[in-house]
Order: sequence, then C-alpha cells, then structure tokens
Amino acid sequence: MLAVIGGSGVVGSAVFEMKRRVVARTPYGEASGPLNFGEISGRTAVFLARHGPGHIHPPHQVNYRANLWALKEAGAREVVSIAAVGGIDDDCAPGVIAIPDQIIDYTSGREHTYFDGGDRQVRHIDFTLPYHTALRDALIAAARRLDEPVIERGCYAATQGPRLETTAEIARLARDGASLVGMTGMPEAALARELELPYAHLCVVANWAAGRGDSTIAISHDAIEQTMRESVTRVARIIANYAASRGESLRETH
Ligand code: HPA
Repeated sequence: MLAVIGGSGVVGSAVFEMKRRVVARTPYGEASGPLNFGEISGRTAVFLARHGPGHIHPPHQVNYRANLWALKEAGAREVVSIAAVGGIDDDCAPGVIAIPDQIIDYTSGREHTYFDGGDRQVRHIDFTLPYHTALRDALIAAARRLDEPVIERGCYAATQGPRLETTAEIARLARDGASLVGMTGMPEAALARELELPYAHLCVVANWAAGRGDSTIAISHDAIEQTMRESVTRVARIIANYAASRGESLRETH
C-alpha cells in the first residue's frame, strides 16, 4: 500500500478518495492525526497530514517516529512525502516541483531514531542515498508522462525552524550544496529507512529562501499559502499517475 504524508491541502484534494479514518497509537505515542484510508487511481492508499488536523504540530514537534511507525503498521510499503520548501538555487522558483536526491540535516533535538538503546540492538543504517532510487525514478517518470515539469535532483537542507532562515544561513546552505530548504524532511526520511520503507520527497517550492529572488527583505506567509494552494493539484496528479502505473505493473507481475 502507498502512503502519502502531506499537508492537509493534499489530503483533502479531490484526487484522493477518503473512505475511513483511524486513530493510530504506537509505542512512540500518537501519530500527528488520524490515518485516512482511501484510494488513489483505484489503488488503496493511506494519507497522513504531517502537521495534524488544523496544522497544530510545528515541524520540531511532529512525532515523526509515531507517524512512520503507524503507517508501516497500517500496511504501508512505500511513502511519498509532500513538503513545502524554500528555493535556494536559481531554478527553484516558487511553484516549482522538485524531487531531491540528497539531504543535509541541520535539525537538532528531535527524536530521530528507533535505535536508541534499550532492548533494541543498535543498527547504523546506510544513508548514502537517502531517498529510494526506484521510487524517485517512478515519480519522475509519472511527471514526464503528464508533461509536468519537475526538477529531477536537488539537495534538501532540513532546518530546525519554526522560524525561517537568515540571509547568511541560506548563503551557508548554498555553499554547502543545498538547493532547497525545508523543516520536516528530517528525521522523516531517516526513520523511513530505519523501517525499510521506500521513501521519496515531492517538494513544492513555496517561496524563495531568505535573501534569494524577491525574498531579500521578507518572506510573505500569504504568498506561501497561495503558492501551495496552486501547486497541490499538480502534485496530486503526479501521485495519481504514479499509483495508476504501479497498479498496472503489479497486475503484469502477478
Ligand atoms: N525555509 C524553511 N522551510 C520552508 C521554507 C523556507 O524558506 N519555505 C517553506 N518551508
């Protein structure tokens, strides 16, 4: 089953048919909100609003461990994560969709592993390629089939938030090689890997990062919301096309 983690905008989108809501409790506490079971392109899927109903959990307080655990327990076998980001590179303008292939983690103080001692044996997961290559490729293929332009690479810088960055911080991230900046990508991606769940990011550039483009003085919250509203349908169509193609390849192999 496909899991989609995203903002409430996507979970409420017409492309996804919701059928059943289930409150999920895990050994790590409660997930951000109910799991929404439904269908995308005729394929069963589960959706989770990362920030909870009514956007109540800020990025540093999202219970990432409970979220991924709950999705896996519910039968998810792959996770597409939708995330709003700031654009750092020149080609990452507001409204652009990007499927990054690398991550740099600048977060701190988050519950970021399932292997934190106790009775669980320590494991050092490989994270050389933080996103699942086949899942990324399949999402890129879906976007191409739809003629939906997406940036097919990029380095996602995960910052702590909830405040946005300074101009100097973004300049540093750019020097480090980051092209996108967001607050929720980590530890989400690493926890998915610990649970052996294929995971990929569909990033929507909501605004120019601080000091870039028109963000030289300030970033407008209203403009961010507007861009996200406009982009949600395009993201949903990519996921729907991917789900349809997966349905076909499953039928071919069985
Ligand atoms: N910085 C960090 N996270 C974000 C941004 C940003 O500019 N825009 C959306 N999420």
